[in-house]
This record gives sequence, structure tokens and C-alpha cells, in this order.
Amino acid sequence: MSNVVSAPPGLSPVLSELSDQAGIATLHHSPELTILNVVWAPYMTVPPHDHLMWAVIGVYTGREDNIFWRRPEQGAPLEAAGAKALGVRDATPLGADIVHSVTNPIPRLTGAIHVYGGDFFCTGRTQWDPETLRAREYDAQWTMRHFAESNARWNAGVAASS
Ligand SMILES: [Fe+2]
Repeated sequence: MSNVVSAPPGLSPVLSELSDQAGIATLHHSPELTILNVVWAPYMTVPPHDHLMWAVIGVYTGREDNIFWRRPEQGAPLEAAGAKALGVRDATPLGADIVHSVTNPIPRLTGAIHVYGGDFFCTGRTQWDPETLRAREYDAQWTMRHFAESNARWNAGVAASS
């Protein structure tokens, strides 16, 4: 993964679809493997969630700050367990039981390749409310709205500054 994200020019034709906006592009999708190009809007945060499968994240532009959370007893709120800041050319593996939240802490887009060891879109996952840190069912529609709203804020900021 580190080698892949160390060569952004070679990746650029594949990644051009999301070169100027936040979003998720599916590069490969099968029952055994899902590969996504994830582009975070400036200052965008996705709340804690799990994947229920192993993953590897590699950043090819910008920065991605991960908070890792301790999976709680049934009904209890999450507890923060650690953090990892990923910059360009950094890659990190995530275990199948990991719970993390992700922030793009910089005023420009961050892009990362996310590889998952399974069908990322067909797994009953959990996300946690960012304020109460209580579990709720993962809501893919909420995530897509979150990207759309983040893009709207990003585009409004670009328009205001030009
Ligand atoms: Fe994730």
C-alpha cells in the first residue's frame, strides 16, 4: 500500500473522478475484496464506525487523522483508545474488530485508498453517535448525505473566496 500511494501520478487516471470533490468511488467490489478511493472534504469528520473486516488505508494526498475507539459493553458509550495521523505515503492496517473515526484536519481535500477484506457494502455494521458515543445501526444514506453536505460547504467556501 505504501508503494501504491507513493506514486500518485500513476494513480491519477483512476482517481480523476474525485479530483475536485469529496466522495467515495468504488475501484473494485467483490464478495472477497472492496477497494475504494475516499476523498474527504476539508475539516470533514466521519463519526465512529466499524467495518467487521480487515482493512488497509493509504493516503495519497492531504492528511487523515484517525481516532481508534475501544468497543464498549452492550449499550455503553465508546471510549477513546488511541490515535494515528496519516500523511502522504502513510499506510496502516486495521483489524477486523477496529472502531475508528476519521477527520481531515486541513483546509483542502484529502485522498486515500481504502482496501477492505470483504464486501464493504453488504455487511451489517455499526456506527456511533458523535455526540453521545452510543451505538446505532450503520446508515449508508446518512454517510452519502454527509459527503454531499461537506461538498456543499466546501464549494460555498471556494465560491466565497474567489
Ligand atoms: Fe472506516
